[in-house]
Amino acid sequence: MQVRKAVIPVAGLGTRFLPATKVIPKEMLTVVDRPTIQYIVEEVVASGIKEVVLVTASGKSAIEDHFDYSFELETFLSQKGKLDLLKEVRHISRLIEVVSVRQKEPLGLGHAVKVTEPVIGDEAFVVVLGDDLVESEVPCVFQMLKVFERVKEAVVAVQQVPANEIHRYGIVEGEEVEKGVYRVERLIEKPEPGTVRSNLAVIGRYVLRPEIYGCLDRTLPGVGGEIQLTDALDILRRDRELYAYEFQGRRFDAGDKFGYLQATVNYALDHPELGGIFKRYLMDLVKGLDA
Ligand code: UTP
Repeated sequence: MQVRKAVIPVAGLGTRFLPATKVIPKEMLTVVDRPTIQYIVEEVVASGIKEVVLVTASGKSAIEDHFDYSFELETFLSQKGKLDLLKEVRHISRLIEVVSVRQKEPLGLGHAVKVTEPVIGDEAFVVVLGDDLVESEVPCVFQMLKVFERVKEAVVAVQQVPANEIHRYGIVEGEEVEKGVYRVERLIEKPEPGTVRSNLAVIGRYVLRPEIYGCLDRTLPGVGGEIQLTDALDILRRDRELYAYEFQGRRFDAGDKFGYLQATVNYALDHPELGGIFKRYLMDLVKGLDA
């Protein structure tokens, strides 16, 4: 089953980042020199996928505009001879083909995936959260597609988290069948401390088969009154196999203030022009803190 499309849900309200996100979608907040969503889209493209289904809501049109052709801007840059900037702007508008689907109410990530059924139909697809960054040598989505090619069943990306953070994630229990690949036996959304025997947390990357839509139909509102994708996956794994994959790379929750700061520092340190000078700045800053 070939994977041609990526679903990127961006319809959430971003309440953890208010007031910054009152008008600006959190996926458009800048990490160093580009919006978070651009890193996500570049990862998807680097993994061989060109068709993106955005799950949007009112107030999110800046995201679609960012990937659209801008006649005025391109004409202006061309007339001014600003060719490097023109190249950058053209690159963004040619990255992907976008189809947008509206989620009329933010009823949860599971619901956001459900509304894509008419455009995905009977295909396997990838879901990448619009605020979850993964910095890695091999794009995380590409790593997951390699696992999907082998197991031919849904794959969720997981990472180990400290015990005191388990209650913030969907947690996977399962048996390791090859290095870093687990056959999932149970999924629990935001478990109470001490109720699970694993620290493998689901992060914002999934390869799904169309059977997930039927499972979403059977999913009742869960934690926070939302339709949780984790709960639908727990229904799925009762009917067929489901795998979890511990990806290679570092993940940042850019929808959270602290995660956003960590992402900014890490991406700045790795930036080809800013990395050196920023590192010296940080080292001086730390020396000053010690004094
Ligand atoms: P989050 O829970 O991080 O997003 O969902 P949120 O609800 O916007 O954030 P807070 O908690 O209020 O700060 C992860 C991703 O799923 C999307 C969000 O836009 C985000 O990219 N999402 C979430 C939807 O598209 N629809 C929803 O109903 C919920």
